Amino acid sequence: MAGRCFISLEGKTVYRSQEKDKGKYPNGPKCQLEGGKKFPLTLNPMGQGGYTSIQMKSCGQLEVVLATQDAESFCEWIRESWGVEPVSMEQPHGNQAVVKVFFDTLAQAQARRRKLPPQFALSSVQTMVCREEQWTTFWRHHFHTQDIGRRLRTVPVWETPPDRKRINLRIDPGLSFGTGGHFTTRFCLEELERACADLKPRSMLDAGTGSGILAIAAAKLGVGTIDAFDYDPVCVEKCAENAALNRLGRGRIRFYLGDVLKDGWQRRPADVVCANILTNILIEAAPALWRATKKRLILTGIREFEGDSVADAFVANGAREVLRDGDGEWCGIVLDRPKA
Ligand SMILES: C[S@@+](CC[C@H](N)C(=O)[O-])C[C@H]1O[C@@H](n2cnc3c(N)ncnc32)[C@H](O)[C@@H]1O
Repeated sequence: MAGRCFISLEGKTVYRSQEKDKGKYPNGPKCQLEGGKKFPLTLNPMGQGGYTSIQMKSCGQLEVVLATQDAESFCEWIRESWGVEPVSMEQPHGNQAVVKVFFDTLAQAQARRRKLPPQFALSSVQTMVCREEQWTTFWRHHFHTQDIGRRLRTVPVWETPPDRKRINLRIDPGLSFGTGGHFTTRFCLEELERACADLKPRSMLDAGTGSGILAIAAAKLGVGTIDAFDYDPVCVEKCAENAALNRLGRGRIRFYLGDVLKDGWQRRPADVVCANILTNILIEAAPALWRATKKRLILTGIREFEGDSVADAFVANGAREVLRDGDGEWCGIVLDRPKA
């Protein structure tokens, strides 16, 4: 199922990549803008509602509503005729689908609007500027203060921590993933807290740091040396801001740009490594992630049904699975280095 992509809104799947897209997006779904420019599309699941937003810079959007049964052939037409990847959203059991096509500019979207295929009955067609802020402000409705584990609490920047009885993790997610609302982040935070209690780690590595939440938690739990990287420059910028928001001095956490699937992200092995990335990436990066782990590796971003294949990839590298937990959809795995 590598590369399949689901977007859910209020717990309902509203976007599902097509079966034939399997494996097409090894690093998550990507759209190709007209002219060949990569459209920065990143799944960003969040919140109890399970909302998934799409990360993007300001661009032109063409939005079409049509009958669900026509959506697939309409998307196929867009792909073949315009060479761009549309995003199709549908309510389960609903009879209408929304198809969005993104362009560099509003003018391009408007020009394409005039060239829509006549053979499809479209209930509505709109063009608009799609702004980064639209996604950013969406968080405010969904991300609220939340206790996690025994000692941690996530607090969005627009709320005030109720007290200091817990370790408050102040987070401005911006466009990055990592609020604590999603099972995968919560799993990592809980297991990180447990690892800090059990192993007293001196170092931590956060692969795919998103908002920086795990690295920030590690710092506030007292881990001394922390490296955190993401292949998305927007995240790396946001992490530094979030660290400052938590009064962590510059350099307390080393945030940097790195792709776990390419050489160059490796700095120094860490006692505890967290990686909340997708299954296919974890499996491909398994040897490198395991080499970077001195004591414990906390993995998530894995669908429940993919748990065994991820665990197997790490066990084959010498890891010992010590814990697995899930919420019915997502799962997390903890692996230890067997004692010599
Ligand atoms: C699910 S988010 C996890 C964010 C945060 N660590 C958390 O636990 O909430 C996954 C992050 O991994 C990053 N990512 C995805 N593929 C990556 C890769 N190949 N190398 C580095 N980072 C990657 C994404 O940009 C995203 O920020």
